[in-house]
Amino acid sequence: MDGFRNDAHPMGVLLGTVGALSTFHSESKNIFDEKVREKQIRRLIAKMPTIAAFAYRHGKGLPYVYPDNDLTYAGNFLNMIFKMTELKYKPNPVIERALDILFILHADHEQNCSANAVRAVGSSHVDPYSAVTAGISALYGPLHGGANEAALRMLMEIGSKDRVPEFIKRVKAGEGRLMGFGHRVYKSYDPRAKIVKETAYKVFEVTGMNPLVEIALEVERIALEEEYFIKRRLYPNVDFYTGLIYQSLGFPVDVFPVLFAIPRTSGWLAQWKEMLLDKDTKIVRPRQVYLGQDKRDYTTIKKRAQ
Ligand SMILES: CC(C)(COP(=O)(O)OP(=O)(O)OC[C@H]1O[C@@H](n2cnc3c(N)ncnc32)[C@H](O)[C@@H]1OP(=O)(O)O)[C@@H](O)C(=O)NCCC(=O)NCCS
Repeated sequence: MDGFRNDAHPMGVLLGTVGALSTFHSESKNIFDEKVREKQIRRLIAKMPTIAAFAYRHGKGLPYVYPDNDLTYAGNFLNMIFKMTELKYKPNPVIERALDILFILHADHEQNCSANAVRAVGSSHVDPYSAVTAGISALYGPLHGGANEAALRMLMEIGSKDRVPEFIKRVKAGEGRLMGFGHRVYKSYDPRAKIVKETAYKVFEVTGMNPLVEIALEVERIALEEEYFIKRRLYPNVDFYTGLIYQSLGFPVDVFPVLFAIPRTSGWLAQWKEMLLDKDTKIVRPRQVYLGQDKRDYTTIKKRAQ
C-alpha cells in the first residue's frame, strides 16, 4: 500500500492490492477445495472495506485506521474512513443505515461487465483474488462504475435550476446524454433509484441539503414529462442519486467506484462460485468470425526484385 504514490487513483490502488493478496494466500489456488474456497470468499468480502479505506486514507496522507470488530460492516467502513482522534468511533445510525442500503443495492446485478470479467477470467481456474481483480478493473471504467460520477458532474455543469430546460433541449437534439438516465434492462423507473432517492433525503437531514438536489429534481421532473424520454422509456437509474449521497458524505469523486466495488465483491464471488461449480462451464473462449481478406494474390519472395 505504501508503495503507491499519494496521488494514485484509489481504484488503481484497490486493484493492485487485491491482486497482491494472491501472493499472501497461496492456498487460494485450490479452488475446488470447498473449505479453502469458502475461506477466501469470506476473506475477500471482509478485507475489501479495509483495503478501500486504506486506499482513501493513503491519498489523503492520513494514518490508517484498523477495523473495529464491534461495529457493523457499514459502520466499520465509516470508522476506517472518518475516524480521527476520538478513542472510539461511533457511526451516525442514519448514515450507517444509508450506506448499508447502498451496499445491498449494489451487491449484484445480472451479467454486467465486471461480473462477466470475473467469470471469464475465473474460467481459467485462476485464484479468486486474481479473478476479482479483473472485476475491479472492469468497474474502473467510466461506462460502468463511473456513471454516478458522470451524473454528478452533469448536475454541476448544469449549475442552476433555471438552466435545466436548456440542457434537456440539448440532450433531445442529440448533443450528449442525460447521465443517470436509461438502462439496458430497465425500461421503467429503476427500482433501485426509488430507494436511493428516499435514502438521499434521510442522509441530507444529517449532512444538510446538497444544493445539487434542486437541479436533479428539476431534471427528473422535466424529463419524465417530455415526449423524447417517454417514447424511449428513459427513467432515472441507480446512478442518478447515489453520487449526491456520496458527495454529501464527503467522499471525493474518485472514491465513488471504490464504494461500488466493496459490495459488488459479494456478487462477483457468488457468480465466480456458480460458474466454477457448473458442470457445463468451460474456459471462456468467444468464437471469432473472420472478417478479413479471402485469398490474396502476392508475389513470392523468390520472384521479388532483389
Ligand atoms: C444505460 C444506457 C447505456 C442504456 O442504453 P440502451 O438501452 O442500449 O439504449 P440505446 O443506446 O439503444 O438508446 C435508445 C435510445 O434512447 C436514447 N437514450 C438512451 N439513453 C439516453 C440518455 N441517458 N439520455 C438521452 N438519450 C438517451 C438513445 O439516444 C436512443 O435514441 P434513438 O433511438 O433516437 O437513437 C443508456 O441509457 C445511457 O447511456 N445512459 C446514460 C449513462 C448511464 O446513466 N449509465 C448508467 C447505467 S446503470
